[in-house]
Amino acid sequence: MFKIAILISGGGSNLSSIIDSIDEGYIKAKIEWVISDREDIYGLEIAKKHGIKTCTVHKKNGSSKILELLKGEVDLIVLAGYLSILNGDLLREFRNKIINIHPSLIPSFAGAGMYGIKVHRAAINKGVKFSGCTVHFVNKEVDGGAIISQAIVPVYFEDDEKSLQQRVLKEEHKLLPQAIKLISEGKVLVQGERVKILE
Ligand code: GRF
Repeated sequence: MFKIAILISGGGSNLSSIIDSIDEGYIKAKIEWVISDREDIYGLEIAKKHGIKTCTVHKKNGSSKILELLKGEVDLIVLAGYLSILNGDLLREFRNKIINIHPSLIPSFAGAGMYGIKVHRAAINKGVKFSGCTVHFVNKEVDGGAIISQAIVPVYFEDDEKSLQQRVLKEEHKLLPQAIKLISEGKVLVQGERVKILE
């Protein structure tokens, strides 16, 4: 069975979409751990309700603690709204085995400091006509790893950051499970800076 760990920092709606996709049989995998970098977040409640092991790590030594916990235990680490930056041996040990979802079309509105509602505010202020979300591999450059998949949404003049966030989030809930499914089926090939999806 393909084993995954999910890292969260907040409400966990992406976590829920992954749990649902597994329950429906769309993804054949088991969630071994849900790990957060803060306590008292709703995402941890969701995990516990589903009988998934949880753990909270401190921002400072988070990466080494996560490596200790997950080395040899999981096939894939999924960042689903995880706000701490991963570094060190964890990135080396899990090279091309960590993915993240970002709520914009990378490389727009991405990189250090671009997270949460700030991403959508920047997109509105720039006046882009389309935004979306991106699933990508994680390397030491923030939001910089190879892009696996993207989904697009229109941006209307009447939008504010909240309405755009909701529209993008709907797509995130499809895109992230789809990426996990493709990876678990061995259909995602990394070739240099780019990703090829096998039919
Ligand atoms: C999502 O927009 C995700 O793209 C971003 O943080 C948000 C997390 O939402 N990285 P949730 O905790 O999954 O509801």
